[in-house]
Amino acid sequence: MSEELALFGGPKTKTTDWGTGKRFGDEELKNLKEALDQNTLFYWYGNKVKEFTKKFADMYGAKHCVAASSGTAGIHVALGAVGVTAGDEVITSPITDMGSVIGILYQNAIPVFADLDPNSYNMDPKSIEEKITDKTKAIVVVHLAGNAADMDPIMEIARKHDIKVIEDCAQSYMSYYKGRLAGTIGDIGCFSVNDFKHISAGDGGMIIMDDEDLYYKAFKFADKNYDRFSTDPAAERKIPYLAPNYRMTELQGAVALAQLDKLEWICEQRNKYGDALTEGIKDLPGIMPHKVLEGNKSSYWFYMLRIDEEKAGVSRDEFSKALSAEGIPNQPGYIPTCVYEYDLFKNKEGYLGTHSPFDSKYYGKDIEYYTGMCPVAEDILKTAIRINVNEFYTEQDLKDTIAAIRKVSNYYANRQ
Ligand SMILES: Cc1ncc(COP(=O)(O)O)c(C=O)c1O
Repeated sequence: MSEELALFGGPKTKTTDWGTGKRFGDEELKNLKEALDQNTLFYWYGNKVKEFTKKFADMYGAKHCVAASSGTAGIHVALGAVGVTAGDEVITSPITDMGSVIGILYQNAIPVFADLDPNSYNMDPKSIEEKITDKTKAIVVVHLAGNAADMDPIMEIARKHDIKVIEDCAQSYMSYYKGRLAGTIGDIGCFSVNDFKHISAGDGGMIIMDDEDLYYKAFKFADKNYDRFSTDPAAERKIPYLAPNYRMTELQGAVALAQLDKLEWICEQRNKYGDALTEGIKDLPGIMPHKVLEGNKSSYWFYMLRIDEEKAGVSRDEFSKALSAEGIPNQPGYIPTCVYEYDLFKNKEGYLGTHSPFDSKYYGKDIEYYTGMCPVAEDILKTAIRINVNEFYTEQDLKDTIAAIRKVSNYYANRQ
């Protein structure tokens, strides 16, 4: 006999409070005070952003790091640095934050969406290759939810076609792909310190790279294309083409610098929690755990399982409700639809009241965005359940989460 579900009046699985903790403390305060005591909050004059970018680059074993005002800004800077411009195509993921595509559109380039692996929710290298045309300039590989995409085949395809690879690691700090850190495999790795990420400076972004030329291009692109390294004041303002102001302030740099000391612990906690969750639910009928490729290490920004409704004997939505009733916060799906199903793409209205950049003479081609374009990605959003992961969650929280998923699964499986 299965235990009665809390959804139908049975006892609730989770009866204790969830683990919580303070994300910011005296270290952040000390750095902020030091930043203010400099009497400037401008990154070029102060030391906090410089210290932060140096430390982050060192942690990643990268030669260079450029700071930006957000993760979105960082990706835009990366695109600018690799030379993405009007009429280029850039391949990316249909399940991601708008931040992955905003920079593409601001460069008047055309986002092209590749389909995903059904269980890692990362871009499928085969689909990427199918989407390559003579217009493809770059790939923005999104490492979703702390989990590294399959980079070896992606890099092989990119090198074969002479395409730049930008890794969007906004959700994936300290995520390993076959022993290498996600963000160090492609040409540029991009990160976010918005308030919802593993570490926070309120907002902010970083991009890392080894190539010196890319570094200078990125550095300038993040700061109006001013050449601050130049000793000739006239050369500083010799603007070759448009670039935005995405500068990080010393206040963001100060907080972000202190946050770096906590990063490894945060990612380690999340890794243990997510892997243990998989271990605890992997034998359940019709429940597909969050797939991490063999040899990889995820830092689980969130945990997302999928329901095979037929095998599980329950709809995704009912499973999600039953789990909530057991006291386990979760959300059905992730973003409401694939990104290409947003009005912006369906109506091809990049800039208000126009079809720019889709109808640009620099593009000179036609592109359609439609439901059915990436069937695996669409299916993921219809059958996934997203479960919160937090570095402050306790052993008890883990035990209760596993117990609740098992209870709900057993109930519906035995009912069949
Ligand atoms: C995958 C991904 N890329 C890019 C971004 C953009 O980062 P930000 O919000 O710092 O601009 C986010 C943030 O939500 C993200 O999750």
